[in-house]
Order: sequence, then structure tokens, then C-alpha cells
Amino acid sequence: MEVQLGGRRVHLRVESNKPRKLKYNLIAAREQGHHTLVTFGGAYSNHLRATALAGRLHGFQTVGIVRGEERLPLNPVLRFATEQGMTLTYVDRETYRGKLIPAGLPPHYLIPEGGSNELAVRGCAELGEELGSAFDVVCVPAGTGGTLAGLAAGLRHGRAIGFAVLKDAGWLRDAVATLQQRTYGEVRGNWSIETRFHFGGYAKTPPALLTFVDKFEAQHGLRLDPIYTGKMMSGLETLLHHGTFPQHERICAVITG
Ligand SMILES: Cc1ncc(COP(=O)(O)O)c(C=O)c1O
Repeated sequence: MEVQLGGRRVHLRVESNKPRKLKYNLIAAREQGHHTLVTFGGAYSNHLRATALAGRLHGFQTVGIVRGEERLPLNPVLRFATEQGMTLTYVDRETYRGKLIPAGLPPHYLIPEGGSNELAVRGCAELGEELGSAFDVVCVPAGTGGTLAGLAAGLRHGRAIGFAVLKDAGWLRDAVATLQQRTYGEVRGNWSIETRFHFGGYAKTPPALLTFVDKFEAQHGLRLDPIYTGKMMSGLETLLHHGTFPQHERICAVITG
């Protein structure tokens, strides 16, 4: 799908990053003989939802360790997770920060918060390999940085730009580099991080962002999520308006939501 944005043609690759992140983790869990997946997330975590679904589809029990107190009725994300069979365990914010596994869980395969580990990077690298050398610039939203780390490592040409959705994301460059180091023993690919388009921080939805999301839907018939892809596309529009990319460059944005 192609759209006009900031006076330029932008190719959209509409594809969730979740199956890419989970693929090699599920294979490893099975190879190690595990029947249960355990992971962490906030109450609105797409990753919890995706792990619950993948667990059900591939025959794993799933446990989600959720930050904060239980709030009833469950929000749509947690309700979906429980409908897939996920058991939810709530921990206070302090405990959550330490990523301690609550006592009493069965033997399990642990997937980190956001699903970003070396196997997730390898999975996301396959997206980069599929894009190959078709584009000069490939944009992706960045939370924990795992998707960017893999995508950039897999590209055969051009550069990847991660649009940070969190405020004060200066740490993200190190996080991406560390993930690539752990995965490949080196930092790979041509990538950078844009930290200017967080719109106030994670899950903040100021009017300017919502206006952009509405305008984009009216023009292109595609509803962007305001937490990840809305910020990236709005940021990309600003960069394009400012003439950041030479005219001949082919631009792609990965719509991960
Ligand atoms: C829709 C969407 N896009 C992008 C991301 C960011 O991915 P990462 O945490 O690998 O940077 C996430 C979070 O996993 C997400 O849910």
C-alpha cells in the first residue's frame, strides 16, 4: 500500500511485529520441553495479548505478570488475554521493576517484557531480509527497540529509523546496540533513533496526535494506533515536510499495530 505523506510517496508495510518476535521463542520453548510461557506486561500490553494468543494457538499454557493492581472489570486487552487462557498474576510496581518471578509458578519458558530478546531480534531480522534492498529508508516505531534491532540487522540496503514512543528515550540507542551485540556479537546495519515524536510519553494522546490519526484515516482509510504507529507516521510527515530525505530515496514505514 502506498500513501502520500508530506508531499512524498511512502510505502506502507502493514504487519504486526508480534509473530516475528515470538516465532523463535516458541520454537525454543518447545525444543526445551516447556509447556508454559511466562511473560511481563502493563495492563495495556499488546505483547501480553499476543503471547496469550500464540500460546493458545500453539498449545502452551501462558502466565502474564501484570504491573499494578487488578482492576475489574478487566480492560479489553486483559480480557482478551484471559479468554485465550492466560493466567494473570498482578505485582506491585516496585516488584515489577525488579522483574522477579513470583513464587509458585510451574517450570516455564520466560519471554521478557515487550518480547524483546535475541530470538525476537532474529525473527524481526527476517522482516528486514524480506524488505531486502527495496527501500532506502525503513521506519518503525520503537518501544523496547527489539523490532528495530532485528529489522536493521536484516536489511540488505538503506537505513532503518526507529521512532521512540517513550519520553526521554536516550537509553534506547544502547538498548538496541546491546540486543544486536547479544544476538550477533556485533552492532549491525545502518540505523538511528528519532526521539522527538513521543507526544508527551507512552500512551499520551494529545489533541495534535489524535487529529493526525483522524486525518490519516480520512485520507487513506487506515486507522493508526496512537501509541505506536500514529506517532511514527506523524513524525515521518514532519521529517518529510522538512525535506529530511533526498527526493530519490524510497521510503517505507512498517505499520506494526
Ligand atoms: C504495535 C507496536 N509497534 C511497535 C512496538 C515496538 O516494538 P519494540 O518494543 O520491539 O520496540 C510495539 C511493542 O511491542 C507494538 O505493540
